[in-house]
Amino acid sequence: MNAATSQPGAQHSAQRGADQAESGDATGLGRVLEPGVIDTSHGPILYLEDLTVQFDGFRALNKLSLSIDHGELRCVIGPNGAGKTTMMDVITGKTGPRNANVSGRVFLGQSIDLMRMTEPRIAQVGIGRKFQKPTVFEQHEVWENLELAMKADKRWWSSLRARLTGEGHRRIEETLALTGLEDEAYRPAGLLSHGQKQRLEIGMLLMQQPQLLLLDEPVAGMTDEETMQLAGLLNSLRGSCSMMVVEHDMEFVAALAGPSGKVSVLAEGSLLAEGTLDAVKRDERVIESYLGR
Ligand SMILES: Nc1ncnc2c1ncn2[C@@H]1O[C@H](COP(=O)(O)OP(=O)(O)OP(=O)(O)O)[C@@H](O)[C@H]1O
Ligand SMILES: [Mg+2]
Repeated sequence: MNAATSQPGAQHSAQRGADQAESGDATGLGRVLEPGVIDTSHGPILYLEDLTVQFDGFRALNKLSLSIDHGELRCVIGPNGAGKTTMMDVITGKTGPRNANVSGRVFLGQSIDLMRMTEPRIAQVGIGRKFQKPTVFEQHEVWENLELAMKADKRWWSSLRARLTGEGHRRIEETLALTGLEDEAYRPAGLLSHGQKQRLEIGMLLMQQPQLLLLDEPVAGMTDEETMQLAGLLNSLRGSCSMMVVEHDMEFVAALAGPSGKVSVLAEGSLLAEGTLDAVKRDERVIESYLGR
């Protein structure tokens, strides 16, 4: 019995039908349907190969190949226009063969072909994305924001029969502690500082238990103190999810990569260099195209 048929219930059958319609092919999709199970037994959680995205003939990505190991926190740097956001748009399905000229391969784990999936489906299989501007429900209290985010995870929520159980409470409290927002739990999110809002939004993403979290310039507009708090939060998430962080702030990148973490440098839509932060900082091509002399 494959994973698809092992899950009973009309809802799953309907979802299976939708998936088959989406891809036009049922083979391999059974594995997608098992929540939280991403096959990383043979290596990376995220795998991009020869990814090319063209806008009116202009190559925003040009045969980009890059992979991230399961559990890794990967920093991605590179000059403006290098294609970093475009890469995240493809991974999350915002840009895909449906609406752009895209070629190449994008896989989550071994078997989940993200290029064949819609944006909501990609979120459902475990990719969370943090945009630059925090998007929280300003009128609602911090606690309610986390609760709403948890309810948005339909798979998990329906299994609870729409009741906020002790398990739900425990997860919200854990997330408040992780994001350093315990003292703000009953304040409207609109009253939080910029840094606190950013941490709340990450908390909301965590309520959906992502396997891979993508963060695009998360510290833009933050004070130095808020920046280091966020570095502390992301470092504390190591082991619970894999992460890809795009940032220009080198102190933040240094705090995440440490002496041995791998940093990828994108330029003109391709991978220019990869290695420790020290190594890429010494790379002549990186100095030329990004860091300057
Ligand atoms: N929808 C689009 N239509 C046309 N061109 C686009 C589109 N999206 C991105 N581009 C172009 O693709 C290139 C890559 O843009 P992208 O936003 O991915 O760069 P980036 O590395 O994220 O830059 P930054 O560091 O400034 O955020 C840019 O030249 C941009 O103008
Ligand atoms: Mg960008």
